[in-house]
Amino acid sequence: MPAGKQVRLIFSHRFNSNIKFETNKVMTKLAIIGGTGLTRLAELKIIKSDRLDTPYGPPSAEYVTGDFIGRRVVFLARHGSPHTIAPHKINYQANIWGLKQLGVEQIIAVAAVGGITQQMTPAHIAIPDQIIDYSYGRKHTFFDDGQHPVTHIDFTYPYNQRLRSALINAAANALVNISPIATYGCTQGPRLESAAEIKRMEIDGCDVVGMTGMPEAALAKELNIDYAAIAVVANWAAGKTGEEITMAEIEHHLHTGMAKTIGLLKAFLTLE
Ligand code: HPA
Repeated sequence: MPAGKQVRLIFSHRFNSNIKFETNKVMTKLAIIGGTGLTRLAELKIIKSDRLDTPYGPPSAEYVTGDFIGRRVVFLARHGSPHTIAPHKINYQANIWGLKQLGVEQIIAVAAVGGITQQMTPAHIAIPDQIIDYSYGRKHTFFDDGQHPVTHIDFTYPYNQRLRSALINAAANALVNISPIATYGCTQGPRLESAAEIKRMEIDGCDVVGMTGMPEAALAKELNIDYAAIAVVANWAAGKTGEEITMAEIEHHLHTGMAKTIGLLKAFLTLE
């Protein structure tokens, strides 16, 4: 752990449940992390922006706190503002640590993905329930400073089930068609996959492929923050159509998918 940090960690012997934070804000509870296609929340009535420093370095962007349809939320642009940080360069540790410092207890992560299995058509939305991590070389844990007992968090259910259910319920209310379960495969990027890689991922059980789901989900779990994701399909994954994937196609489908995502988020916030 770097010296001079402002946030104190007290580790438990075995589990992460005893991590204690001296948070500097306690009022804000819900955060939305936006990815490609959602770099800001247009209807957020901004109250303040926090540029935080963390023991892990700077987060991707300022944390923007505001009212979104009357509910207080913190928004973070995962790829920075402007959108310049590639998936493998994102400081996931700093992003999640900063949210904890702000007192955030729930994260809804929005992420663009490629569709692998039949239901995952472009502009479709899935609420993943499982993850397979194919990424590498990312700083993926808070529990590696060598000064505390080794800690193994449970990751049987990577996403918070209560938050997932609330999102699924909100989708039904808002008449947004979603897939309520899906396995998210996280690749390293920034390149897209080869057709053979996608074939292998499908055999592994992946329904969608993205580049940012890990270590974000695991780091949130290490800090006891409820975490669920809205995966927005931007394109058919490599080899699924016989055509090459273009950025124009991705942008087009994300535009539609993100409009549905905003509807889903509004329904979620109304019902919560
Ligand atoms: N692969 C990985 N990440 C993605 C894709 C994809 O096809 N589309 C959007 N994000």
